[in-house]
Amino acid sequence: MAGNRSTFRVRDLVMQVHPIPPQMRVTDVADLFLAEACANLLCLPVVRDGVPLGIVSRYDIMRIFLRQYGREVFGARPIERFMNSAPLLVNAQAEIETASSYVREHMRLPITEDFVVVEEGRYLGMGMVTSLLEKMEQRVAARGQALVRANQHLKASQAHLVQSEKMASLGQMVAGVAHEINTPLGYVRSNVELARDFSQRTATALIAGGNLVRTLLDERATDEEIGEHLAVATTELEAVAETGILDELGNLFDDTLHGLGEISELVVNLRNFSRLDRARVDRVNLNECLESALTIGRNLIKQKAEVVRHYGDLPDVECAASQINQVLLNILTNAAQAIDEFGEIAVATRVLGEQVEISIRDNGCGMPESVRARIFDPFYTTKPVGQGTGLGLSISYQIIEQHGGAIEVNSTPGEGTEFILRLPLRQPDAVEDSVALEDMPEAG
Ligand SMILES: Nc1ncnc2c1ncn2[C@@H]1O[C@H](COP(=O)(O)OP(=O)(O)OP(=O)(O)O)[C@@H](O)[C@H]1O
Ligand SMILES: [Mg+2]
Repeated sequence: MAGNRSTFRVRDLVMQVHPIPPQMRVTDVADLFLAEACANLLCLPVVRDGVPLGIVSRYDIMRIFLRQYGREVFGARPIERFMNSAPLLVNAQAEIETASSYVREHMRLPITEDFVVVEEGRYLGMGMVTSLLEKMEQRVAARGQALVRANQHLKASQAHLVQSEKMASLGQMVAGVAHEINTPLGYVRSNVELARDFSQRTATALIAGGNLVRTLLDERATDEEIGEHLAVATTELEAVAETGILDELGNLFDDTLHGLGEISELVVNLRNFSRLDRARVDRVNLNECLESALTIGRNLIKQKAEVVRHYGDLPDVECAASQINQVLLNILTNAAQAIDEFGEIAVATRVLGEQVEISIRDNGCGMPESVRARIFDPFYTTKPVGQGTGLGLSISYQIIEQHGGAIEVNSTPGEGTEFILRLPLRQPDAVEDSVALEDMPEAG
């Protein structure tokens, strides 16, 4: 279809209108306008030898005839004396947009004339202003639709992109989690294999011992038989003693349980990430929470930093203490991990109206803006695989947000980082110690 694309031209709009000669009398032109063939035309072209000279409109004729004795005085005169000799001329090859802006710029209102279409200077036909405008309107609408389609396409690609990003994060997560589970799993497995080995040897020794006892209790047993069983039992028992199985077994099971503990901690962490656990609201002193987090993290922190405390006098705050402890521990751990050799971690608290503010500042490596912008993203970490899951701050963010609080970060590369937490003193609708902060179903 010509015209849906940008090549739609004026030629496609041309109406075949029979031109009139310049000598035609005014009354004859008036009659023509009454004829059915011209019933829908606003004007007629005046053409000599194929060259357009002007245009005469119904409106012009009406004005002539409305004068006193107009018809009688002017009716017999040639139309060329009354025509508009500067009509709108549009080239048939012109594109619709060009023609349209030209016509809109030059047409007179009210619209009493259409435009003359020419090709190489010669009359080709007439074009209606209204159909030109209509065509333009259609094109604008079509462009609008194309824009809507482009927009939809863009949205779809964006969604696709987000999806791939999510899948990439998931891949990273799976890799990280697999790695973290693999280490304890490795020694749990080797411990269990060892224990199986041990128990087989112990079983052999037990059987030998059992045989010896049975022989000893058997009255018909010869000394030779007893000697044989005694030898076997002694060898087996010595073999067991040599391996140190009995001393080892306790440690072996302790290590195994520790490994299993690490795995289940990881699983709990993951579960916390996707759905915060049921949390009771307690009334706690956040200075004490900080102290307990410092105690739990003490092993790591004491190697990396001196802790400086500036505790304000705080009222109790309604919160899920275990969750807030988790947030504090994570921020303190991050701070310690950000320090290269030995530095300082300053913790400060104060009351700010209806809120309590906690600041945890380190003089570690700091972060460039590109890192700072992503630290709350799940699975974002700059630490090597196996060392960081990148979940710490995203879980912290969720927890603080669920408490109606805020978390703010200021960081300068090379100088350090400050995390500021603000928690409201009261939780809406909190019934102390009895109501879940957010009543979510237990994991199935
Ligand atoms: N105090 C800090 N100084 C410098 N960088 C920090 C600090 N705290 C966080 N970051 C940056 O933010 C990233 C995300 O921290 P987040 O606690 O979410 O994950 P992680 O510590 O890498 O891993 P995880 O906490 O799961 O062990 C870190 O990898 C680190 O790049
Ligand atoms: Mg962390």
